[in-house]
Amino acid sequence: MEKTMRKYSFITMGVFLLMISLQFSAQVSRQPFLQIPSSTSVTISWISGRGVPGEVHYGPAVNSLTESVIESEEEEIYHEVVISGLTPDTKYYYSVDGASRGTEEQYFITAPQVGSSPPVRIWVISDFGQSDSDQNEERMETVAQWKSFNGNNHHADLILSLGDQTEDDSRYQLQHNYFNQLEPVLVNTPLFTAIGNHDNHDDMVNYLSTFALPSEGESGGLASGTEKYYSFDYANIHVVVLCTEVEDEEMPAQIEWLKKDLDANSQDWLIASMHRPFHSGGHHRTDDEQDPQDRRNTWLPVLEDHGVDLILQGHNHVYERSFMLDNLLGKTTSLTDDNVIDGGLGREDVDGAYKKKNAPHQGTVFVEVPGGGVASKSFELYSIFPVHYNGYEYEGSLVVDVNGNRMDVKFLCNEKDEKGSHIWDYFTIIKK
Ligand SMILES: [Fe+2]
Repeated sequence: MEKTMRKYSFITMGVFLLMISLQFSAQVSRQPFLQIPSSTSVTISWISGRGVPGEVHYGPAVNSLTESVIESEEEEIYHEVVISGLTPDTKYYYSVDGASRGTEEQYFITAPQVGSSPPVRIWVISDFGQSDSDQNEERMETVAQWKSFNGNNHHADLILSLGDQTEDDSRYQLQHNYFNQLEPVLVNTPLFTAIGNHDNHDDMVNYLSTFALPSEGESGGLASGTEKYYSFDYANIHVVVLCTEVEDEEMPAQIEWLKKDLDANSQDWLIASMHRPFHSGGHHRTDDEQDPQDRRNTWLPVLEDHGVDLILQGHNHVYERSFMLDNLLGKTTSLTDDNVIDGGLGREDVDGAYKKKNAPHQGTVFVEVPGGGVASKSFELYSIFPVHYNGYEYEGSLVVDVNGNRMDVKFLCNEKDEKGSHIWDYFTIIKK
């Protein structure tokens, strides 16, 4: 009898250990992250420790994940699940490893109705995954400064990531440099990425298979038919994400799509984002290179003809930003008074906010967003940048707040300035 019981105990223990081991190996090895938001849908992606059918449970409360979407019966490691039929501007909790395993941090909020004007906060990062894991401490600091600024909360309405998510499009770097640091933000904030030159290896195969981007107009805007460049709407904002890395023969298609997309746009605000800058005195001086001149000739007139308000760029790992400018199509150093719509700082408490009408050529602010993990190696001050910060120690990020007819932009530096503040620059644009 005793022998039989011992046998059953061993069997029970074995089954228990097997269950633990299966449970452990099925756990997620890349935490879930949100993409392609709209007012009725969202895409959730993650990686599991072994091949399992992907399943998302969601509902109105952590302990009430009453709905579910099954990806397929296939056992997969890489998962991408679209949840649709949702209510606009509504918070849902979710779990990718069982209906009882939701957490307070695992939620998504569907986008507001297109054209409505609630307050929207966008966190902007650039060059975050470049170069190797040695920079992880700075990356973590960039995330920590964002959280601290944002009321001890990681959540934003959106993240724009302006390229160079890796050093050379490697899966290891994507996980260790990028996702591991951004995990607490990405779990409840939808991510939109642009392609940087460092993502552009081997036909961007890892970039394109990792990030789900709205090539078919799923988040508003005109379908581009490619994940390399696209647009989307969020509340009263239209954002175009352009690709500075496509081959020369693909450029005409991109510009044709851009024209049509912007012709069809009627949102209050227009933000253009891309990796390589039009104007910068950073490590890659735009006056010394031909490709920024080519983009100034072809892209910038289209954007300014459609009243672009803010141009966000990365690549140079410095913080720089311009006055309110128009039509500076030549070299940065060719600036004349005719290009300056408002030569002030755009600060309400110093010389007043920038003010503009919603019409073509009313002025644009160019911002060079610094690296999230690596700072610049060199810099030369150009005259269009009233505000510029260089140096090995100046990593950080950007916060863009849009509220009705008002846009506030702040540079969050990882270091404190001489007054002890991490907000090194700020400006406001008001639509008249
Ligand atoms: Fe770059």
